[in-house]
Amino acid sequence: MPRLSPPAIRRLHANTPLLAALLPTCKTLNSAHNELRWIREHVWSCTLAPQFQSIAEAKGNDEKSRNALLRRLCRLRGRGYPLQYILGTQPFGRHIDIKCRPGVLIPRPETEAWTTHLAKLMRRAWKVNRHMKGEGIHAHLRILDLCTGSGCIALLLHSLLFRKFPKIRVQGLDIEPRAVSLAKENLAYNVERGLLQQQNADAISFEETDIFSADWLAPILEQVSFSLTDNPRGRLLHSERGAVDILVSNPPYISREGFDRDTERSVRNHEPRLALVPEPLADNPSYATVLPEDVFYARILDVAEILRPRFVVLEVGDLAQAVRVVQMARERNSDAEEVEIWRDWPDMQPREGEPESVDVAGMTVPVRGSGNGRVVFLRRLNLYEYENKSNRKAIQRPWNIC
Ligand SMILES: C[S@@+](CC[C@H](N)C(=O)[O-])C[C@H]1O[C@@H](n2cnc3c(N)ncnc32)[C@H](O)[C@@H]1O
Repeated sequence: MPRLSPPAIRRLHANTPLLAALLPTCKTLNSAHNELRWIREHVWSCTLAPQFQSIAEAKGNDEKSRNALLRRLCRLRGRGYPLQYILGTQPFGRHIDIKCRPGVLIPRPETEAWTTHLAKLMRRAWKVNRHMKGEGIHAHLRILDLCTGSGCIALLLHSLLFRKFPKIRVQGLDIEPRAVSLAKENLAYNVERGLLQQQNADAISFEETDIFSADWLAPILEQVSFSLTDNPRGRLLHSERGAVDILVSNPPYISREGFDRDTERSVRNHEPRLALVPEPLADNPSYATVLPEDVFYARILDVAEILRPRFVVLEVGDLAQAVRVVQMARERNSDAEEVEIWRDWPDMQPREGEPESVDVAGMTVPVRGSGNGRVVFLRRLNLYEYENKSNRKAIQRPWNIC
């Protein structure tokens, strides 16, 4: 509950009932003021989510009807209904606007932060690679976004990278038909508004897929031919490139108990559980020994072993889960990877008391940024780097991304 005295709350109800209605969810007056301003702006500019926009249109555009709708929306928000489902959109990065709708997860600021950070690293690597190798070498970049939801990660990466990688292709997959349909709508919406360039039809695509099924991998593998060699120290790519270059995912990663115990009321009651808590895999014995909340990572790391992306970037719930994911990655491919953990704000300096590395089964893994553990970043070494692994200079940043 808000930290206001009972008389202050009574005064608020008497003088500014809209702020009072928002307070149970917003917690502070400052944030209630902000949300009231946003809801009011959207009511007056007729840019609400479609379900509320149609109510607004049915009731008419006079001031009395708009005020009635504003009161209704503030009460709804005060009961924990997500703001983005009322307004209908959420900015994601500096360039993209994401439509939000019940049934599909609302994009989070932490996801936006690591997506932007990843794009920055890729642009930096491109710059140095071009300097070393000349123009045109990195026109192609193939990104696969598993569990894409609203398409926010896929769309932001495309918008931040297409200038450097003009032939970039991004594919987003999700099991939920409402998510796939919203992701396609978000693509069209951002292209229409000039926020996204889509030079060719398959530059960005979204498809309905259960990533635990087997049939979706073959078409991706068909696009490329490469072979693996068995090396005494692990399996290595003959060709420099795998079937995709970057595999990203923000999969469901909350345990059932964590969902009931730790999530906010607004999330628990209104956002899709399928997006947050992994469904039990009753008929899939492959992951029987993995913690239920980690099961998507096990699957995605197995997929990475097949597709051989140069980079794998996985959002996680906290540092403990990040450590478990690093451990799983090492069990699958212990030698050929550089590993990092990123915190919520990977570009910030760590705060006092935030360790800058963790030990994972004897390996020191750097932890970058500030906040909770949020991302596991894995980079597969190319053959040259692999062979020169003892020479740390050879694998320091910026990386070879071709
Ligand atoms: C945490 S949400 C992430 C959404 C989006 N990438 C984001 O960052 O906002 C996880 C997504 O995984 C999808 N999902 C759940 N089970 C899946 C499966 N077996 N295969 C593919 N997608 C799945 C859900 O529908 C949901 O959209």
